[in-house]
Amino acid sequence: MEKARSSFSSRLGFVLAAAGSAVGLGNIWRFPYLVAKYGGGMFILIYIIVVLTFGFSLMIAEIGLGRKTGQSAIKAYTKLDKKCSAFGVINAIVPIIITPYYCVIGGWVLKFLWAYITTPAKVIADTGLFASFAFNAAEPVEPILWFLLFLGITVVIVCIGVEKGIENVSKFLMPLLVVLVVGVAIYCCTLPGANEGIKYYLKPNMNDLKPITVLAAMTQAFFSLSLAMGIMITYGSYMKKDNSIEKSTWQICAFDTGIALLAGLAIIPAVFALGSPETLKSGPSLMFIILPQVFANMAMGRFIAILFFILVFFAAVTSSISLFETVVSIIIDQLKAKRQNSIIITILICLIIGLLSSLGYGPLENMTVIGMQFLDFFDFISNSVLMPIAAFLTCVFVGWIIGPKAIISEVESNKEKFSWKKLFVIVIKYVGPIVIVLILVASILQAMGKLSI
Ligand code: TRP
Repeated sequence: MEKARSSFSSRLGFVLAAAGSAVGLGNIWRFPYLVAKYGGGMFILIYIIVVLTFGFSLMIAEIGLGRKTGQSAIKAYTKLDKKCSAFGVINAIVPIIITPYYCVIGGWVLKFLWAYITTPAKVIADTGLFASFAFNAAEPVEPILWFLLFLGITVVIVCIGVEKGIENVSKFLMPLLVVLVVGVAIYCCTLPGANEGIKYYLKPNMNDLKPITVLAAMTQAFFSLSLAMGIMITYGSYMKKDNSIEKSTWQICAFDTGIALLAGLAIIPAVFALGSPETLKSGPSLMFIILPQVFANMAMGRFIAILFFILVFFAAVTSSISLFETVVSIIIDQLKAKRQNSIIITILICLIIGLLSSLGYGPLENMTVIGMQFLDFFDFISNSVLMPIAAFLTCVFVGWIIGPKAIISEVESNKEKFSWKKLFVIVIKYVGPIVIVLILVASILQAMGKLSI
């Protein structure tokens, strides 16, 4: 069975893929819309605190578990304690739900890329491309085709096994993405009227300090850092014993958060400069509504838009291949399926959940689950319910079942001091489990309309 997984080129290849997978749509598409939705500065403040505490501690725990056991999520828990095999299974369900709708958003990115290649930026902004494309009940086929194209590209890369090639290309393109995002952010922050937006972005407002904001920040941190779904356990299992777990963790956290903050600066101030604060609440479509307006008014806007969507596409595809690969190896491990069959099962899952997500914004818009459209529902159930549960179980497992010492000794096994050991122990044993349970209960009650917070 192991053989099938290591077909992911080489060990080093997988490490790079897992690290590179952290930066993706989560940073550029999801983070800015959450900032807008949950109150600007307060969300950012909470997000940073969450990354420094939960994000850091959970990543150390996951990488530590992986390196200690040399196994991927499901087997890592079982190896350390037979009774806890279910813990790994919960971790494994998350990517199964995320991969399909990730591909739907990837399809949106491709559509916008194609639109800018074929249409002037002004026309795209004036016609309100996103609404007529993704939210059009009369024409559901187009978003589905783009979703299928993105899924197809992902599957082809996984099947012919050129992840490494893609990784190499994106290692070169990622810095370019950073430069471009910085450029667009500077442009947007200097637009007349952007100051209000920068203030909104940076100044925490006490009224926004609500349990739901903390939950949103926490789950976004998990999503963006690829935590609470077993990925980092696998990543850790491929890490060399003499590498520093603590240093790598800080680097991944800092890099990932830096890109997210910049993406927010490229989008939020523009909302104010364009005088459309009502779009702040527009959720998953925010990036696709605001950026076209920015590009339409920018010198060389069309060229920059094409470049931007190419780079976002690469960021998304490196993430989608490792999400897809994760699901494939989970199915290989759990069902003892052959790799080929497991790829077919994964495609079928993606088709079912992906089609529902795509149609949910079109002809099925009136069909909602607990008041949410399908894509929002899948996002909610994976990010706001399953990921906190997975994170809670990991905290309990490391904090109370095997004990933090097991991970600390792994972190220190290269003879380096674990500088933030105290923080790690306090978060994993006490703060993590308690805060996660409180927040989870509050937010589920809220989603069910039983609590207004
Ligand atoms: N972190 C990725 C992003 O920001 C999304 C993601 C979550 C992911 N879990 C993952 C990517 C697992 C690859 C593997 O977009």
